[in-house]
Amino acid sequence: MTTRLGAFALKSGRFITIEGGEGAGKTTLIQELEQRMSASGIAVVTTREPGGIAIAEQIRGVILDSRNTSMDGRTEALLYAAARRQHLVEKVIPALEQGAVVICDRFIDSSLAYQGFARGLGMEAVWEINRFAIGDTMPDLTLWMDIEPEEGLKRIHKDDARELNRLDLEGLKFHKKVRAGYEQVYGQYPNRIVRINAGAEPNVVAQQAIAAVEHGLKGFFATDVKL
Ligand code: TMP
Repeated sequence: MTTRLGAFALKSGRFITIEGGEGAGKTTLIQELEQRMSASGIAVVTTREPGGIAIAEQIRGVILDSRNTSMDGRTEALLYAAARRQHLVEKVIPALEQGAVVICDRFIDSSLAYQGFARGLGMEAVWEINRFAIGDTMPDLTLWMDIEPEEGLKRIHKDDARELNRLDLEGLKFHKKVRAGYEQVYGQYPNRIVRINAGAEPNVVAQQAIAAVEHGLKGFFATDVKL
């Protein structure tokens, strides 16, 4: 299917995911990318995991409720996969079918890094349940917003507007493992994942990310995108 979008001819959508530990600046980056893409006439849909649609937001509430301290690791992994499935079917796939660029805050790499590695469930086990959840829908491009866990946690604790959730409240040791998990996933998918130094100055971070997205969209539109 080819959709006309301003000056661009689009064959089908593009799926971009933004990953990283807490306080890496994903939300700010997504807003920036959305604004630049819209200004360039690109149909863009931004969303997040877990959540993005009503059922998945309800599941998010259960997973992240700081009172749910007794939640088992496998239960947690299954709930993330369930939320992912519903979100994919209800929102991501329809938008991709319409030719949009979908930018999603977190996707399967979060489960691999947090549940597979940091929780110790094993990457393969987490892959298994996610394969069932997502089928063959994988991101075309992933930006890994990499930041020192100490710095990321400092940022979220300084942000008064942010309510700390069950995973935010895990200790530094856990968040260091999350980073090591991302490192492993990155090693497995060096072509899909671009590592961004999220500890740099905000404008430098944005420039790195924009360059990666422009590169990732090469050949997708009839003319190269300049964001
Ligand atoms: P957020 O703070 O980026 O909105 O994400 C919510 C939390 O959920 C964050 O601590 C990361 C965690 N998470 C996982 O552990 N596994 C997953 O698969 C996803 C999508 C998020």
